[in-house]
Amino acid sequence: MQLITDFSRAGNLNETDWENGLHALETLVSGQGKGSEFTGWIRLPFSYDTQEYERIKQAAQTIREQSEVLLCVGIGGSYLGTKAVLDSLLPYFGNPAGPEILYAGQTLSSSYLRELKDYLADKDYSVNVISKSGTTTEPALAYRVIAEWMQEKYTEEEIRTRTFITTDKEKGALKTLADEKGYETFVVPDDIGGRYSFLSAVGLLPIAAAGVDIDALLRGAQDASALYTTKEEGNAAVEYALHRNRLLQEGKDIELFVAYEPNLMTIGEWFKQLFGESEGKEGKGIFPASLQFTTDLHSMGQMIQEGQRNLFETVLFVEEPVGDLTVPKTEEDLDGLNYLAGASLHEVNEKARRGVLKAHVAGGVPNIFLQIAKADAYHIGALLYFFMIACGVSATLLGVNPFNQPGVEAYKVSMFRELGKPGFTE
Ligand code: PA5
Repeated sequence: MQLITDFSRAGNLNETDWENGLHALETLVSGQGKGSEFTGWIRLPFSYDTQEYERIKQAAQTIREQSEVLLCVGIGGSYLGTKAVLDSLLPYFGNPAGPEILYAGQTLSSSYLRELKDYLADKDYSVNVISKSGTTTEPALAYRVIAEWMQEKYTEEEIRTRTFITTDKEKGALKTLADEKGYETFVVPDDIGGRYSFLSAVGLLPIAAAGVDIDALLRGAQDASALYTTKEEGNAAVEYALHRNRLLQEGKDIELFVAYEPNLMTIGEWFKQLFGESEGKEGKGIFPASLQFTTDLHSMGQMIQEGQRNLFETVLFVEEPVGDLTVPKTEEDLDGLNYLAGASLHEVNEKARRGVLKAHVAGGVPNIFLQIAKADAYHIGALLYFFMIACGVSATLLGVNPFNQPGVEAYKVSMFRELGKPGFTE
């Protein structure tokens, strides 16, 4: 089983709900819904361009051989899927399987970029610039700065072998630059938007470069596709979407994505973009938030237990941890923890989860539970695909286009005015 789900503490669905849910799935998968020209990600696990896939593996190998660091330059959907996968799969401390993966262009922070420059000064690095449009301000600005660092450190030929561009197949500033300079390019397919793109070259190149088995990641997504695009009652992605919409109708308009493993928190960041940008339009949508338990129970636990009753939780748990330890026994038992002696720490985490669930449900916070057997490439590929289908169905049920983001333009126009960009002054 790829994913175990428990919706029993989220309310009940009826026949009509299921009819609506399966109809929404059909609309999404058959490409008849809003924004259907951006549903290429649904078939992507089965329809990969094999030549590009091989080039990704070769480029990843080159990056591993020549670099201590791979710098991924991108923002939003052009970096969050990669970071979600890599943070989930790489060890907490160091990465023996490949270069360190660092990010740029995801912030305008001058301190961040300045410190990154110092950090990279004595390291060999490669750069993967990722931008579908090729014109997004944050990554374009960061790359302009980084390109200068590279010129100070490397010859033109070295820069050519260390620069990888992932962008539109034929248009945009990045594509023009790559063609001029002879940089290797990878394609962001026309029919896949940023937040649905982690299985395209956007994610696969840096993920493979980090030493992750991208075949397993794709296999997980393929198996998830077989399960979650099937129009049958009991389809867990549809069930999840139905519960979210039902909970929203009941006034639960904030969803807390909760993970009990710190390394899964970036999935929460990706999840927030996926659902927030897909559903938050036309005055609709659930506000997605993310929390790490038990850590955040010591900061947000009070609000969850007794604050406004507009919350529900979607909890992600990993059945088999990567590592475990046994609680030692002490003679003195000064901390009073001998009652746990001999227990595994993972068992403690799991029991904490059960206790928290009971307390929060009793406090009026419905709970959706998701469990993967392991945090490995196969299960993470499956999990993210599950969320993408669920999000497409959920947005379709809500009646909005899951694949556009018209509201994002407003901040850009306003920011361009402040910056004095030609064509945007008052
Ligand atoms: O989901 C999206 O479409 C956005 O988050 C984009 O990925 C983000 O704005 C970056 O765009 P681009 O890849 O064109 O630089």
